[in-house]
Amino acid sequence: MQALSASITGRAIREEKIAVEAVDIRDFTEDKHRHVDDYTYGGGAGMLMQAQPVFAAYESVAARLEKKPRVVYLTPQGVPFTQDLARDFSECGELVLICGHYEGIDERVLEEIVTDRVSIGDYVLTGGELAAMVVVDAVSRLVPGVLHNDESAQDESFAGGLLEYPQYTRPESWHGKEVPEILLSGNHKKIEEWRLKQAEERTRKFRPDLYEKYEANNQ
Ligand code: ADE
Repeated sequence: MQALSASITGRAIREEKIAVEAVDIRDFTEDKHRHVDDYTYGGGAGMLMQAQPVFAAYESVAARLEKKPRVVYLTPQGVPFTQDLARDFSECGELVLICGHYEGIDERVLEEIVTDRVSIGDYVLTGGELAAMVVVDAVSRLVPGVLHNDESAQDESFAGGLLEYPQYTRPESWHGKEVPEILLSGNHKKIEEWRLKQAEERTRKFRPDLYEKYEANNQ
């Protein structure tokens, strides 16, 4: 949460373009020792979060919202988080993000409340919090008014299915490397063509998976 108070997300919170609230599932346990986890049926290593406190925490949040929210469970078993999904979430108004801990959450409560299972990549984090912050960050910058005019979200990586072209600022020469001459030419049509070609080359080299999709869409 602290991380969100810095930089662009921090400014967006202060300007009330977005609001982020953390709810501690532990506050909703009926267990006298405040436990929220237990052993898994069927055996196996690790503990599982119980359905009751997760459900109670969700209900307390949902009761304050006007309509049924999208409820996103962060898990390595989810669909990959992409720019398209970030855009989709940014148009939802309200989002509830559920962060698992331990080995996960009792499947029964997930079945009842979760609308989307989302993974931020093929690796396992110790909990869903960092993944939730990634989602909050990527979604926030697509909310109207969050980025100011000079921070446009239009002409960037993944817009159009390509990685972004390389960019340069002053000075013209640095460590013996020159800014590509075309960028100094003032010929906007030529610059646009050059940038598209660079974006295509980069995508083909670094993300052949994306390039294949791009090619299929541009046949
Ligand atoms: N929780 C643990 N690992 C995760 C991942 N890769 N994505 C989303 N949530 C997670």
